[in-house]
Amino acid sequence: MAGKFIGIGVGPGDPELITVKAVNALKTVDVIFVPKAHANTPSIALGMIKHILAERTEPPEVLELVFPMTKNESEVQRLWAKNASLVAEKAKNGKAAAFITLGDPMFYSTFIYLFRSLRQDYPEVKVEIIPGVTALTACAASAQVPLAEKEEVVAIIPSDLDSALIEETAKHADNLVFMKCAHRFKDLVPILEKSSFTENSTVALVRRCTMPEEKVIVGRICDVKNWAIPEDYFSMAIVRRSELPISRKQGDVP
Ligand SMILES: C[S@@+](CC[C@H](N)C(=O)[O-])C[C@H]1O[C@@H](n2cnc3c(N)ncnc32)[C@H](O)[C@@H]1O
Repeated sequence: MAGKFIGIGVGPGDPELITVKAVNALKTVDVIFVPKAHANTPSIALGMIKHILAERTEPPEVLELVFPMTKNESEVQRLWAKNASLVAEKAKNGKAAAFITLGDPMFYSTFIYLFRSLRQDYPEVKVEIIPGVTALTACAASAQVPLAEKEEVVAIIPSDLDSALIEETAKHADNLVFMKCAHRFKDLVPILEKSSFTENSTVALVRRCTMPEEKVIVGRICDVKNWAIPEDYFSMAIVRRSELPISRKQGDVP
């Protein structure tokens, strides 16, 4: 039987937010590739599916794929081409091989690099993608702050984007989502004010959403200067132009 490659989104952190389809795939695949930025740190995604693997009578082969945290594009491509060859080898040997990724595979995920390399170098390998609950919607749920309603436009912004580009983007959106934002969030406030967000616009900052250490704080732009914001990679901010009644203020200092 021909093998295949399955990209599986395992959700934002809470193991109960893994889809039934993902669970069923994880119960049967032969190999699970686990992305890792550093060889020595445990994989959060793997931790989230441990209970599923523990129930298997025949455990799958689990292989780590180290990926580079570098902006050197040729180095990134070289490593992903190597990783794609490892995946293709399994699929060509008739194995069902999965790659697990936090949240959704097609939303700012390392899976996209692997998918692209595989498509380019091994177009004969069959690929399936199982979507996951993304941190985007999970953070909105945890904060109880809507991402969009009616005619609202939402912009999703990687926080390291150039300030002028953030300002220009923000002018055209009602609501903003800042990814990878913790290290820079306070610096973003003046940029938002230039884009006609007001000091009363609503801000939700969510750290480690749906994980046991989750912290949520909801307030106004004018409150942000008083917030202690630890530099945690798993942080996302939702900013709404409108002033919402703040019904829930959890974890006073995130
Ligand atoms: C490379 S992106 C991965 C997004 C992921 N594929 C998804 O669908 O949620 C990583 C960024 O997503 C956000 N993120 C991912 N998981 C999160 C969580 N549990 N809580 C808060 N933010 C999270 C953070 O902004 C983090 O810097």
